[in-house]
Amino acid sequence: MASYREFHQRSIREREAFWREEAERIHWHRPFAQVLDYSRPPFAKWFVGGETNLCHNAIDRHLGARAEQKALVWISTEVNAERSYTYRELHAEVQRAAAMMQSLGVRRGDRVIIYMPMIPEACFAILACARIGAVHSVVFGGFAAASLAARIDDARPKLMITADGGSRMGKSVLYKSLVDESIRLAQSPPAHVLIFRRGLDPEMPTVAGRDVDWAELAAKQADAQVPCAWLESSEPSYILYTSGTTGKPKGVQRDVGGYAVALASSMERIYCGRAGETMFTTSDIGWVVGHSYIIYGPLIAGMTTILYEGVPIRPDAGIWWKIVQDHKVSVMFSAPTAIRVLKKQDPAYLTKYDLGSLRYLFLAGEPLDEPTHVWIAEALKKPVIDHYWQTETGWPILSAVPGVEQTKIKYGSPSFPVYGYDLQLLRESDASEAGNNEKAVVAIVPPLPPGVMTTVWGDDERFVKTYFTTFAKKLVYATFDWGIRDGDGYYFILGRTDDVINVAGHRLGTREIEEAVNMHSNIAECAVVGVADPLKGQMPLAFAVAKDTSKLGTADGRKHLEKEVMETVDRQLGAIARPRAVHFVTLLPKTRSGKTLRRAIQALAEGRDPGDLTTIEDPNSLEQLKGVLAGP
Ligand code: PRX
Repeated sequence: MASYREFHQRSIREREAFWREEAERIHWHRPFAQVLDYSRPPFAKWFVGGETNLCHNAIDRHLGARAEQKALVWISTEVNAERSYTYRELHAEVQRAAAMMQSLGVRRGDRVIIYMPMIPEACFAILACARIGAVHSVVFGGFAAASLAARIDDARPKLMITADGGSRMGKSVLYKSLVDESIRLAQSPPAHVLIFRRGLDPEMPTVAGRDVDWAELAAKQADAQVPCAWLESSEPSYILYTSGTTGKPKGVQRDVGGYAVALASSMERIYCGRAGETMFTTSDIGWVVGHSYIIYGPLIAGMTTILYEGVPIRPDAGIWWKIVQDHKVSVMFSAPTAIRVLKKQDPAYLTKYDLGSLRYLFLAGEPLDEPTHVWIAEALKKPVIDHYWQTETGWPILSAVPGVEQTKIKYGSPSFPVYGYDLQLLRESDASEAGNNEKAVVAIVPPLPPGVMTTVWGDDERFVKTYFTTFAKKLVYATFDWGIRDGDGYYFILGRTDDVINVAGHRLGTREIEEAVNMHSNIAECAVVGVADPLKGQMPLAFAVAKDTSKLGTADGRKHLEKEVMETVDRQLGAIARPRAVHFVTLLPKTRSGKTLRRAIQALAEGRDPGDLTTIEDPNSLEQLKGVLAGP
């Protein structure tokens, strides 16, 4: 077999031949006429003229060989339930959901916002959208009403699908009432809201004419048969909002054909998941990892996928390993924060269960620190593969690719550029290529491979401006991550170049949090930075200037306003974005042209040297910052 290096080189040098072969992994209703249309850089269209369907590849295609195999296993340690669906049953459920959506007027190209907890019906809804060519936009359940409203106004959905409630650590979270509030705030509300009742909110109010009960509608569509809509490869499959430098989240748009091919390929070459085996991805369906590797990837590969509603330490810290044992999981995918949480628990849980079936543990979403990498690899005695990617890319950018070659794992490194990615480390100053051991911006030379976002929903210009204009001299996709390559060709990711932070694997924009803080009526302005946190990787920390400072002279007064500001953030964005603390100052460190010196603030907050401060307008601001950080 070719070495991975040669394999990667071929994927770039013979790009079209390479992807033509990979495209054979999926079913094409109509073959494509052209592998790649790159006539309008940086927009790439993959498998032009080909017609396919994600739901067909995920379900129908397997009915011949594996109709009675489990496709989806739902395990909830929140409501203590377990249910599984064979491919045949999943096929029926998805057709029912598709017919329900059609009866509510949803047609090809319409958007459907899905705001649901980790329950099978969320998967049915997602796959049903794919089936009929509706564009789903799943919003993470931790986002608050105002965030949801912003997404409603950008996607302008025909329908929203939700549940009465979810549960986290045994506490109910009321989804439906939050959806009601978001619709009150939105300018372009959907005509209908479809609600799956779990019995978690007995008092749930409904709006006549708008709200529709899932079970009632499902009863009318019990034996529905809904054929797959054959979509042109480049038609949109979904929108997934993600944070960037500005306060306004971007709708990452994905295609159909390129995504299906990239996932099918990655399932074999990267994850080494085989049909009939089980994959357990511990993410949430609201994040890209959930889209690609809870739902589409493992199903396209003919695997059984596990949907887990719960946390890693309830009922105890052995729950994930028990799931691995009971369901003979062969591939597992999680995030570094979860491993750091487990590291604090009794290590006996790691040896309590038979993990014989497990081949690999993949980790992504945030930097994996070396001690955590070493700890989990030694505890499991299995290869633990750190791999790096983004919502934008939909599948890995940097990874070991054990399906091609078993390369040595270096702790702390996500190994090498994945095939299809022409990755470069570019110097910020002049876009020239950095040498080994030199920190630079991780960039991808377009055309971007199949599976990667095709544009920003409704805004081609923003796509180009956001991702392709970092370097005036070179048309390249900027990841907004710093990286470095060592002498052996291994890459290391060193954090973001922009104002995005990563809290327990959740990607958040500090600007969004600043806008949320500013919503408090007594806040004049603020700066939010990410500071290192031993468990969550990073936490937001806010520095705010109050309008009325009369009550801030006492510790109690400051505490009171801090609490109110935190509650405002909870309401605007969700508790995941709540700052660790809010410090009050009378001025923020800014340049003479008025730009907040975020990097300097972050350095001070982390106890580092703030670097060059010659452009600062008023050095007093730094003294104040140091004062509040030192405490009373
Ligand atoms: O900064 C990088 C970090 O997470 C960002 C992407 O987050 P998100 O869009 O939520 O997608 C997560 C998909 C796995 C990246 O720009 N990141 C992701 N994986 C790693 C990472 N940082 C270091 N090491 C990783 N393995």
